[in-house]
Amino acid sequence: MSILNVLHYPDERLRRVALAIENVDDNTRKLIDDMFETMYGAPGIGLAAVQVDVLKRLIIIDLSENKDQPFCFINPQILSREGKEKVEEGCLSVPGIYADVTRSKWIKIQALDRQGDPFEQEFEGLMAICVQHEIDHLDGKLFVDYLSEMKRVRIRKKMEKLRRQTF
Ligand code: NI
Repeated sequence: MSILNVLHYPDERLRRVALAIENVDDNTRKLIDDMFETMYGAPGIGLAAVQVDVLKRLIIIDLSENKDQPFCFINPQILSREGKEKVEEGCLSVPGIYADVTRSKWIKIQALDRQGDPFEQEFEGLMAICVQHEIDHLDGKLFVDYLSEMKRVRIRKKMEKLRRQTF
């Protein structure tokens, strides 16, 4: 397994729309394993392939403290949603920034598992929030897009300054 490079906002590559995975094969599973290693190492609770510069519709999540409840969703789609909930979010592509975002409280999704088999699953609470955040990445969308223009400009400046300092 290997640690992958995570793109940081405002990198334009984070704005691209990912493509459906047609064949779930060993390459896909290798990517999934590498993404888990990258996410656990960060550490983070969710990661989309777009964030590691791979334009595929694939997301992973693990909310557990012991990193032992891995979820992997290939070509995920939200079938239905209910309610509203405001939760403070962060993102590995926007390090050090946290902000409240309102999303659906409950969702039902369909996806393929790491064997390529389709399944449907319902989520609520933090898991539902996280799935919505990660699926957004597949459509080139970031959580900062939900914030006011003023807040977003401030975050963008902060991130650019950070980048100048580290490179
Ligand atoms: Ni994110």
